[in-house]
Amino acid sequence: MKRTVIAGVGHYVPENVVTNDDLSRIMETSDEWIQERTGIKERRWVSSDGEDTTSGMGTKAARNAIADAGLKPEDIDFIIFATLSPDYYFPGPGVQVQENLGIDTVGALDVRNQCSGFVYGLSVADQFIKTGMYKNILLIGSELHSGGLDKTTRGRGVSVIFGDGAGAVVLQASDDQSKGVLTTKLHSEGKHAKELALLGPATARWVDRIIEDADPEDMSYYPYMNGNFVFKHAVTRFQEVIMEGLNEIGKSPEDIDLLIPHQANLRISQYIQAKMGLAPEKVFNNIMKYGNTTAASIPIALSEAKAAGKLKEGDLLCLAAFGSGFTWGSALVQF
Ligand code: UT7
Repeated sequence: MKRTVIAGVGHYVPENVVTNDDLSRIMETSDEWIQERTGIKERRWVSSDGEDTTSGMGTKAARNAIADAGLKPEDIDFIIFATLSPDYYFPGPGVQVQENLGIDTVGALDVRNQCSGFVYGLSVADQFIKTGMYKNILLIGSELHSGGLDKTTRGRGVSVIFGDGAGAVVLQASDDQSKGVLTTKLHSEGKHAKELALLGPATARWVDRIIEDADPEDMSYYPYMNGNFVFKHAVTRFQEVIMEGLNEIGKSPEDIDLLIPHQANLRISQYIQAKMGLAPEKVFNNIMKYGNTTAASIPIALSEAKAAGKLKEGDLLCLAAFGSGFTWGSALVQF
C-alpha cells in the first residue's frame, strides 16, 4: 500500500498586523488581558481593499507548497480545501483554487470542520493516496475571520482571538514505508454544536429572514463561543485523541519529536504539553503572532516549523485539533 508523505508546505498571511493595543483603541480590552488569557500578541487581519480573500490566500499558500514540493500546479490531481469562512455561501473555495492555479478539471472537495478541518482533510487525503486513487493532493486551510467579527466591546470575547491567513501542504504517494502518515483519528460530538457557532446566515433562517431580520442587535450574525466550556473540552479531547493515535502505533508521548496543536490558545497548548510530559521545545506555537486562524493554524505552523528547522526527516510529528462542532482529531506522521 502507498504511504502519504508531506512533500511540500507553504503559507500566506496578510501584511496588515493588528496588535492588542490596536484593538484596545476600538473596544474595551487590553494587551494584558489578551496575552494573559490567550498568549496572543498580534494577529493579521486583511486590509479593507478586498485584495485578500479566503480562496486567494489559499491559492497563495498553495503556490508556495507546490513550489516547496518541487512540483508544478499541473502535477496536482486533487484539491481539498478546509475553511469555515468561504468566499461564497456556495460554491466552496476548492473550485476557485482549481481555477486560480489554472489546472485541469481535477476534483475539488470542501471540508467544513472548522478548527479540525485540516486534520480531517489530511485523513481524507491519506485514504485517497493509500488506495492509489491520487498521487499529489493539495490540502489547504484558509480563513478570513476579520470581516465577520463583532469588533465592539460586545464581541471582545471572540474578536480578539481570531486572525486571517492560509496554509497548505502537498501530500504525495510514496512507496517508502519508513515515512508518511501513520494514523489519523477523527471525532465529533454534535450535542455541543451551539457552544462555538455562527448561526445567523444559514438555511435555518432562509434568505428572506436574513434580510428582514437585519437587526444590528442580533448577535447571531457573529460567531459565538462559550469560551470556558470550549476550553475545558479542548484540554481533555486534545490529550485523548493524541493518546488514541499513539496507542494505535505502539508509541508514547516521549516518542513525539514535534507536536503542532491547533493554535486555539497558548494556555491550552501549554496545559497539554505539561500534562503529556513534553519538553516545551517539542510543542510548536505561533498563536502569539497570528491568533487563532482555525483551519489554517496547523498548516501555517507546519510551514513555519519546517522553515525554522524544527522538523527533520524521520521525526515523529503529531498534529492535533479541537474546535467547533465539536470536532477533533489527530494525525501522526513520520516526517
Ligand atoms: O479554536 C476553537 C477552540 N477554541 C478554544 O479552544 C478556545 C477556548 N476558550 C478560551 O480560550 C478562553 O475561554 C477565552 C480566551 C476565549 C476566554 O478566556 P476566559 O478566561 O475563559 O475568560 P471569560 O470568557 O471567562 O471572561 C472573563 C472576563 C469576563 O468579565 P467578568 O464577567 O469576569 O467581569 C469577560 O467579560 O473577561 C472579560 N473579557 C474580556 N476583557 C477584556 C472577555 N473578553 C475580554 C477581552 N478583553 N477581550
